Amino acid sequence: MDHWNAIETQPASTLKNLFEADPQRTKQFGFEQSGIYFDFSKTHMDSALLESFQKLAADRNLSDEIEALTSGVAINPSEGRAAEHTAERGIGLETSVENAQLLKNRMQALVQAIEAGALGEIEYIIHLGIGGSALGPKLLLEALKIGDEKYQTAVISNIDGCALEPVLERFDAHKTLLVIASKSFTTAETFLNARSVTDWMKEQGVSDPFGKIIALTAMPDKAVEWGIDESRILPFSETVGGRYSLWSSIGFSAALTLGIEVFNDLLTGAAEMDEHFRQTPFERNIPVLAAFCDQYYSQVRNCETRAVFAYDERLRLLPDYLQQLEMESNGKSVMADGKPLDRHSSPIVWGGIGTDAQHAVFQLLHQGTHLVPVEFLAVIEPGHSLAAEHHQGLLLNCFAQSAALMAGKTSDDSNRNYPGDRPSTTLLLDDLDGRTLGALIAFYEHRTFANAVLLGINPFDQFGVELGKEMANALLAGDSNQMDASTEILKNRAFSV
Ligand code: F6P
Repeated sequence: MDHWNAIETQPASTLKNLFEADPQRTKQFGFEQSGIYFDFSKTHMDSALLESFQKLAADRNLSDEIEALTSGVAINPSEGRAAEHTAERGIGLETSVENAQLLKNRMQALVQAIEAGALGEIEYIIHLGIGGSALGPKLLLEALKIGDEKYQTAVISNIDGCALEPVLERFDAHKTLLVIASKSFTTAETFLNARSVTDWMKEQGVSDPFGKIIALTAMPDKAVEWGIDESRILPFSETVGGRYSLWSSIGFSAALTLGIEVFNDLLTGAAEMDEHFRQTPFERNIPVLAAFCDQYYSQVRNCETRAVFAYDERLRLLPDYLQQLEMESNGKSVMADGKPLDRHSSPIVWGGIGTDAQHAVFQLLHQGTHLVPVEFLAVIEPGHSLAAEHHQGLLLNCFAQSAALMAGKTSDDSNRNYPGDRPSTTLLLDDLDGRTLGALIAFYEHRTFANAVLLGINPFDQFGVELGKEMANALLAGDSNQMDASTEILKNRAFSV
């Protein structure tokens, strides 16, 4: 039986008809978990489609794959290893969970030592890292800071000096802690920035810059080689993927800045979502249902993108974080067995914040020719103390947009016609705190995994990023033999002035 064929040939109802036909729809497709309400009712998912997707999931052994993910089985075949980010939250192979806990205790001890002044007076933290070694910590800091933190923390990723220089101008080198976050401890951007920061410290007269460096890495030997004392290296397991690493010591700068309790709440929220993912039947399993919807829009409705709009400034970095998580995981053309993938892989994930995006890109969502499933996020508890109108306006705008996308509006004037029937999901958080954010991020991780299993791809490698790195290294080494004429001209034009 071709389960994809059954899904693709399922008769399609409009959202309006689905609501009319089933007044219980919001009950069937609305779920609460860890302080978050997930509303899938404004998607085209219905009982028949759900049944077909459940058959596909059974065929793809999704239950066994979830079990394998959360019990330390080597489910990353191209690199021959497990993907143990859940062990960081206490769910996984016993030895891995114990090891993660030991490393967490070490991290906590270092946080406490720094707070107690073991590294002198620290007011500033420069966290250097890129990709998964930056996006997670940055998201946590931006989402959970309340404004009275003891440290000013800057996360710098780009090799472009425009990112680092203003920080060096602002910070006092004598009171700065340098945190180098790199799973491989080799990434070019991170180490050029690290050299510039240590040079700056020396120029500013810091007597022992290396005494103020913390390394977060799965390659502690390389950090030792780089000159960092073992007591200031916080290792994590190689089986934790870079884009799944914020739960490990990669979260150190966020834990130090926000407080270890907040970081522990984050792990608790994620563990709750892990348990939900492991134990809940698919028709109520939130990450699995989200993946069913993703696959429906991607494969059946040919949607090439999915948009995420956070109606909360504190979550403004969420789309950036999700872009790496989903596109680096599932942007593949081959399946786990090496055979070509004969359907769409990850959609292009993009987004922004509400209400700003309404006045910029929502035109296309309401009337454009591309169908774009939209994900709305909002938080019931405001993150500020200004007049209630601000938050009311924010939330009601969010709800109005999903209602308008679905309802549409007919007009004799084609310019003013809204086709409607445009799908969205809404994630409504009771509050934005460690627990809800942990559960939210874990939800996205598991949704990405469930999508990969349905497609048969390995979400845990990222060979696609290597060729560009190789060619950049060749250019940096002055070797342009392999380059095309266009690249040659660009290079000559840039460096002959
Ligand atoms: O080049 C891609 C990548 O390997 C990501 O997967 C990773 O998150 C990022 O680079 C940073 O790598 P590292 O933590 O090893 O410096």
